Amino acid sequence: MNVYDSARMADVLAPLGYVPASDADDADMVILNTCHIREKAAEKVFSELGRLRPLKQAKAAAGGSMILAVAGCVAQAEGEELLARAPYVDIVLGPQTYHNLPEMVARAERSRGRGILATDFPAEAKFDHLPEATASGPSAFLSIQEGCDKFCTFCVVPYTRGAEYSRPAAAVLAEARRLVDQGVREITLLGQNVNAYHGAASDGGTWGLGRLLRALAEIPGLERLRYTTSHPRDVDDELVAAHRDVPQLMPFLHLPVQAGSDRILAAMNRRHTADDYRRTVERLRSTRPDLALSSDFIVGFPGESDRDFDATMALVREIGFIQTYSFKYSPRPGTPASVMERQVPEAVKSERLAALQELLNEQTAAFNAACVGRVMSVLLDRQGRHAGQLLGRSPYMQPVHVAAAAACLGEVVALRIVEALPNSLAAELASARDREAERACA
Ligand code: 5AD
Ligand code: SF4
Repeated sequence: MNVYDSARMADVLAPLGYVPASDADDADMVILNTCHIREKAAEKVFSELGRLRPLKQAKAAAGGSMILAVAGCVAQAEGEELLARAPYVDIVLGPQTYHNLPEMVARAERSRGRGILATDFPAEAKFDHLPEATASGPSAFLSIQEGCDKFCTFCVVPYTRGAEYSRPAAAVLAEARRLVDQGVREITLLGQNVNAYHGAASDGGTWGLGRLLRALAEIPGLERLRYTTSHPRDVDDELVAAHRDVPQLMPFLHLPVQAGSDRILAAMNRRHTADDYRRTVERLRSTRPDLALSSDFIVGFPGESDRDFDATMALVREIGFIQTYSFKYSPRPGTPASVMERQVPEAVKSERLAALQELLNEQTAAFNAACVGRVMSVLLDRQGRHAGQLLGRSPYMQPVHVAAAAACLGEVVALRIVEALPNSLAAELASARDREAERACA
């Protein structure tokens, strides 16, 4: 989401003459787009600011100026404190206000030294005031939904991103068509709780994510669709059916479960049990047997016992995940879990995280190894580090590299996987026969 927001900030600032700089050293403006989800991410902001301060001073000493802005969820959550702690920051802006950046920049140029704070949730929808998105390659993000009403007890998102909001379907389709016109072949739909999407449709009704995916799949030239991040509670029948019927929808889904113990899931206010999750996965896999899953996990949530943790390990063994993100619980100010009793000691969290990650890494490695010899369609979206090498993503989001002509850049190509490396797959162009076989399977 922050990658998407950063790109949109660049779009907003382009008419003022700003273009992205390769580094901060001589930039006229530096925007830190920040994350508040865990303490570690939030603390990073202050160390980055400390690094940028001398650059700003050097620029001023040389007769120039540098506008320093902090955007994103740390700005939203800690705006005033941030300005007090780093008074040399010119602009502090929350995620719902960046469409007003040009006006803030003009004010910052006039106000000389007095920091500007923009952390209200404005009444008007940000998306109505943004310029058209510009693509920066064959794969693009498209934000369709923001905010969250779920209020998991560990999470800051409902406070920093605000209440759930879905963009109208027509606006999403128009942005997708423009991206495809610019050469985009793959779109990843974004939202904090993307499958809670319920956008107003031109037929007067409301579309869910399943309906939206079907409409997007009709755009000629749009070859791949993905969406992230989804909530197990919001996997409805229409979405399950889309996984069966929409060939552009990739067979890979990030569906965070967080934990495997019902007691902990209830304390987290996740609104689903471990069995609910199992059933949801079964429904999805019964319509799309090749669907691979990814998840987020939190270990050491307050009150988590060894038995609770064992339930997480058991669920992981049972479901099998191919890529995952796992974290130690990090108490966040203002969230219910941060003041719960029986906080888990750091050493226990570390031990559980290590055990979980060992199991998850084994599953990832086993899946990658099983891919060797398979022919997969890969969207080649970047030049590799070596001459004549292109990089791309498999349908399962695995990074793949191949020696291929530059003309293949931006294309979906059939590749045979020849080796599973620790962080990527090595591939070669599949033979004409393989390509035919792949087409026959599609
Ligand atoms: N501590 C640890 N991890 C967290 N996440 C969200 N809040 C916290 C927290 N307080 C994780 C969840 C979520 C992912 C984006 O970040 O697993 O799915
Ligand atoms: Fe946070 Fe996701 Fe829970 Fe919403 S559903 S509160 S974004 S963890």
